[in-house]
Amino acid sequence: MNPIIIYGSCYGSTKQYAEVLSKRTNIEAISFKNVKKINAYNTIIYLGGVYAGGVLGMAKTIKKLKDFSNKKIIIVTVGLSDPTDEVNKNNIRNNIKNQIQKEIFEKAKIFHLRGGIDYSKLNFAHKTMMKLLYNSVKNLPEEKLTAEDRAMIETYNKKIDFIDFSSLEQIISEI
Ligand SMILES: Cc1cc2nc3c(=O)[nH]c(=O)nc-3n(C[C@H](O)[C@H](O)[C@H](O)COP(=O)(O)O)c2cc1C
Repeated sequence: MNPIIIYGSCYGSTKQYAEVLSKRTNIEAISFKNVKKINAYNTIIYLGGVYAGGVLGMAKTIKKLKDFSNKKIIIVTVGLSDPTDEVNKNNIRNNIKNQIQKEIFEKAKIFHLRGGIDYSKLNFAHKTMMKLLYNSVKNLPEEKLTAEDRAMIETYNKKIDFIDFSSLEQIISEI
């Protein structure tokens, strides 16, 4: 099968998921920054943290794929917002659709996991970005809030961990 797990993680939650998935499946996991011969693999499991709608490292990594006709592609997003919220799930999927080739999007199996955040560890740019986003939604009426807004308001300036390794089971079954 020649599979590989590739992850894009800034603060470690996606890396934790990738490492546990690696242990449970016996498939090597590497950061997207260290991927060299992506075309040598025929099953690619990409896990990426969600940053302002984008999936960290995904577009850059997928772009390197030359012939994907015989490849199995699994994309796993790790974000703060609730992945069981259908609107949220559709937003994430639409963002992915805009970031990769249509053919890859259509054949990819996509999963959504929940990560975490520790504001004391955020770099200056990320802290500033979250502050701006928080200020833009904090006074909106409840019915106008998206799942992403709600997750941000609930976790703002805190340390929150939603990581649940049992949610990897659906991905293991797919592999
Ligand atoms: C600057 C910034 C932007 C983010 N944007 C989103 C977002 O659009 N949607 C979401 O669900 N989570 C968002 N998050 C939360 C991250 O996806 C979450 O913290 C995730 O666990 C990060 O993965 P990592 O620890 O592997 O980097 C954001 C976090 C930061 C710091």
